[in-house]
Amino acid sequence: MASSKTVLAAIFTASLYFTATLAFPAHHEGAYPIGQSPKPDLSPDYYRATCPQADEIVVSVLKKAIAKEQRIAASLLRLLFHDCFVQGCDASVLLDDNDGVVSEKNAIPNKNSIRGFEVIDEIKAALEEACPHTVSCADTIALAARGSTVLSGGPYWEIPLGRKDSKTANMMLANKNLPPPNATLHRLVKFFQRQGLDKVDLVALSGSHTIGMARCVSFKQRLYNQHRDNKPDKTLEKLFYQTLASVCPRTGGDSSIRPLDFASPAKFDNTYYKLILEGRGLLNSDQVLWTGNDPEIAELVRSYAENESLFFEHYVNSIIKMGNISPLTGYNGEIRKNCRVANKNI
Ligand code: HEM
Repeated sequence: MASSKTVLAAIFTASLYFTATLAFPAHHEGAYPIGQSPKPDLSPDYYRATCPQADEIVVSVLKKAIAKEQRIAASLLRLLFHDCFVQGCDASVLLDDNDGVVSEKNAIPNKNSIRGFEVIDEIKAALEEACPHTVSCADTIALAARGSTVLSGGPYWEIPLGRKDSKTANMMLANKNLPPPNATLHRLVKFFQRQGLDKVDLVALSGSHTIGMARCVSFKQRLYNQHRDNKPDKTLEKLFYQTLASVCPRTGGDSSIRPLDFASPAKFDNTYYKLILEGRGLLNSDQVLWTGNDPEIAELVRSYAENESLFFEHYVNSIIKMGNISPLTGYNGEIRKNCRVANKNI
C-alpha cells in the first residue's frame, strides 16, 4: 500500500508538471524552417519585469506618426514582412551599409520602396530612454507592426517577444526571398513555403494590402504587357484599368503611387478581398489569389471577403507565425543601441 507520503509526493510532482504546462504551454504551431525546433524562448511577457511600458511607448510614438501621415502605418507593417523573410525576424532590414554590412535596403524589393525607418528610430530612442539596452530592434518592429494594424482598425494579437538583433544583413537573401509582385500563384506559394508558411498564411497575410500604397512600377506590367504580348492583364476590371492607366502612363510616372485597396486605403478591413473578387486587386500577386486556378486559395479569398472576423482570426494566427521565423534568442545576437548599426560598428 502506498504510504500517504508517497501519495503526497506524487500529487506534488503532478502539480509541478501541470503548473509548468500552464506556464509553458505547447508552443503555438509556428513557422520553423525545416530542421529547426520551435523557439519557446519567446514570450509575450518577456519585458514584463524589465520594460513593462514598452508597448505604451511604441503606441504613443505611432499615434503621432500616423496623425502626421496615415500611410506610415502600412509602411511599418510591411517592415515586419521584409524583416522576417530574410534570415528571420532579426531587424536585419534596419541595418545601413557599414563595415561588413551590405544593407538590405538596397535590395530590389526594398530600394525606393520600404519606409518607416525614421519612425523606428524615434520609437527606439524613446525605448532606450525609458529602458536602456533592453528592447531589441526586432521586437520594436514587431510591436510597431501590431500597433500600426490596431490603430488602422485591424485586430490585436499577443506578440511572443524576446528576439535579439542580428549583427549582419543579407542583401542577396533579400533579393532571393522577397516575392516580386508579378509572381505567379505557384511561385508565391513556394516563397511562403520556404519560410514554413502555408496557403492560409499566404492569403491571410496578403490581406495586409488592405492598407498602403504601391508605385506604378510595381503593377505597370499588368497595364501594358502582362504576358509579354503588349496587352493588358485580362483579369483587370475595365474601369479600374482605365483609372490606373491614367495615373500610370506607358512610359514615365513609375514612382506615382496608387492605393492597394482604393476603397478604404487607410482602414484595416476585408475590402481588399472584396475588390479582388471584382477584378480590382492592384498587384498581380493580389489578383492571382483569385484567378490563379487554386481552388483552396480562391475559396479562402471568397470566405475572407464574406467574413471579416474569419479574416482577422486567420490573420492573427499567420502574423504570429511569421513573427516567429528563426528568431535569434538567448546569447545569439545582441540588443542594438541604434537600430541602423551593429553595436561593434558604433
Ligand atoms: C504575397 C506576397 C507579397 C508581394 C508580392 C508583395 C508586394 C508588395 C509590393 C510590390 C508593394 C508596393 C511596393 C512599392 O510599389 O513601392 C507592397 C506594399 C505593401 N505590402 Fe506587400 N507584398 C506581399 C506580401 C505582403 C505581406 C505578407 C505583408 C505584411 C504582412 C505586406 C505588407 C505590405 C504593405 C502594408 C504595403 C504598403 C506599404 C506602404 O504603403 O508603404 N505585403 N507589397
